[in-house]
Amino acid sequence: MKQAFHITSVEGLSEVSDYLISIRDRGDVVAFYGPMGAGKTTLIKNLCHRMGVTDEVNSPTFAIVNEYVTDEGESVYHFDFYRIKKLEEAYDIGYENYFYSGNLCLIEWPELIEPLLPERYVRVDIALGETDDERIIIVTDDEA
Ligand SMILES: Nc1ncnc2c1ncn2[C@@H]1O[C@H](COP(=O)(O)OP(=O)(O)O)[C@@H](O)[C@H]1O
Ligand SMILES: [Mg+2]
Repeated sequence: MKQAFHITSVEGLSEVSDYLISIRDRGDVVAFYGPMGAGKTTLIKNLCHRMGVTDEVNSPTFAIVNEYVTDEGESVYHFDFYRIKKLEEAYDIGYENYFYSGNLCLIEWPELIEPLLPERYVRVDIALGETDDERIIIVTDDEA
């Protein structure tokens, strides 16, 4: 299934977040694709806040993965694979313990660990629009 959003402001991301929350049962891994500055981190922040995360949400810089907890006590994992040089680094952090934990995993730069993505995941593509605040966001989840 494919759902497209035309967002004209950062606030507009809430519509995408709410959609992602509504399809939460379709998989634990959400992969965010888009160039630097597209808005992957910004969307993940919005999504986490709408899920009741009160921790500060920021791209993990040193650790590859950050853990947040929602107000219902559910863990959410936020990955940024931008700096990864080989897949072994993902093995080293025990990526599968996160991906198959049953907790939500939000992934920036999934293209760098594509072979490790589970069979079923939700794909989010973010593209820049005509103006600075505009984005085209496409959510795809292939349920066979
Ligand atoms: N509609 C929008 N959606 C997402 N980001 C937006 C939007 N409009 C402006 N921005 C800005 O674009 C930048 C996106 O940066 P960031 O989320 O760090 O991108 P990425 O993680 O993809 O590199 C932020 O400064 C954000 O405020
Ligand atoms: Mg980012």
